[in-house]
Amino acid sequence: MSRLVVISNRVAIPNARGAAGAQGGLAGALQAALKKHDGIWLGWSGEESEDPEREPHIQTNQGVTTATIDLAPQDVEEYYNGYANSTLWPLFHYRIDLTEYEREFGKGYERVNDLFANAAADLIEEDDLIWVHDYHFIPLGERLRAKGLKNKLAFFLHIPWPPTRLLVSLPYHERLVRTMLEYDLVGFQSEEWLESFLHFCRKELGADVDEETGRVSLGERTTIARAYPIGIDYDHFMAQGDTDEARQAYDSVVASTRKRISMIGVDRLDYSKGLPERMDGIARFFDRYPEKVRDLVYIQIAPPSRESIDSYQDIRETLERKTGQINGALSCVDLVPIRYVNQGHSMAELFGIYRASKIGLVTPLRDGMNLVAKEYVAAQDPEDPGVLILSRFAGAALQMQDAILINPHSADDIAHGIRQAMDMPLDERKERWERLNDSVREDNVAEWTRDIIEDLRALET
Ligand code: G6P
Repeated sequence: MSRLVVISNRVAIPNARGAAGAQGGLAGALQAALKKHDGIWLGWSGEESEDPEREPHIQTNQGVTTATIDLAPQDVEEYYNGYANSTLWPLFHYRIDLTEYEREFGKGYERVNDLFANAAADLIEEDDLIWVHDYHFIPLGERLRAKGLKNKLAFFLHIPWPPTRLLVSLPYHERLVRTMLEYDLVGFQSEEWLESFLHFCRKELGADVDEETGRVSLGERTTIARAYPIGIDYDHFMAQGDTDEARQAYDSVVASTRKRISMIGVDRLDYSKGLPERMDGIARFFDRYPEKVRDLVYIQIAPPSRESIDSYQDIRETLERKTGQINGALSCVDLVPIRYVNQGHSMAELFGIYRASKIGLVTPLRDGMNLVAKEYVAAQDPEDPGVLILSRFAGAALQMQDAILINPHSADDIAHGIRQAMDMPLDERKERWERLNDSVREDNVAEWTRDIIEDLRALET
């Protein structure tokens, strides 16, 4: 069987704290993929160094071999904080108001893509399948082709693909997207993002697009574009439920909330997650139903993310202010309605916390998929399952129609969703949960990896 060479900016650190909500879905998913396939995972070590060693540092941990390189401070500033997370991330999450276009960012992005292409080219052998991930490395495939690599190349985007009318605001948008046609296979989280991509290729690049098969042809090149919704590492996640850590976390939530219903949110502290809007929704709920103040406690776990970027500092301040206002207005000496927690938690702890929570609140304004929604469902007690409230703008909503689907911009909608979840009878909770859980179990990360790799192998290139 051919080896798999996976390339992504973030490489999972063994024993890192946190499941999807703390580290994003990518790292966990790729770790699961590589446990099943012989191969190597190339990415950034997460370290900055004034004079970085360009030779990758190779190590094997828990059956997964990683090759990591350090970056110079200027690389981190222009590529990671700059083009990846201040240009592409906000734009692809429809936040044109937060998008920064700096020439230096673009240059840094190209430089770091070259750097990873050089490192990858040294690692790649003739029959390897190459699988590049996410917005950090869109042009990497083209760089590898320029080095004469003939291997099969796949790319997967973990975040939304924006509508053409937004994407054209990016300087050099055509050049960026054209590089994607050097991959043999391009994958998206949902049909919606796929459609937007195909639309861009037809309208802006003048490519020949077959909507049925996802075949995009331009000049000599043909690429297949498809939707492959990602799932969780179901068996591994479920095994967490049998640990003491999970049981202790469960017990501590149950003991500390006593007769109140606990509602949980777990998100990286990112403006795409709709956290201030969520707090407005919770405030609206208490405003409308003041008699419920003693019945509901909301636990928000929000590990800080990308802290050097201004928009992330701003979102943190906004959230702290809103949480403080709600708690200030509604707390009593023996009760605080919102528990706001910045620290990350292990996957086992999260399993216990999800299971102890009767409502899961997942309300991103835009999200490629959102695996917290799937983890929350998987962790529930089948005899007394909790209710998932989910934003209709998360990729996951297309597969999770049995959740209470809400508009995350509407405080009224969130408040109404919470009320509906609190009042939902056991029979209905069970029916909805069974359907949701079937799809979370079946459409898991192993299936996702298998589908993409089989499709890539089967392509005639
Ligand atoms: C999202 C992205 C991933 C990224 C993760 C965490 O899920 O799609 O590529 O790894 O967020 O963000 P970070 O910047 O910490 O890697």
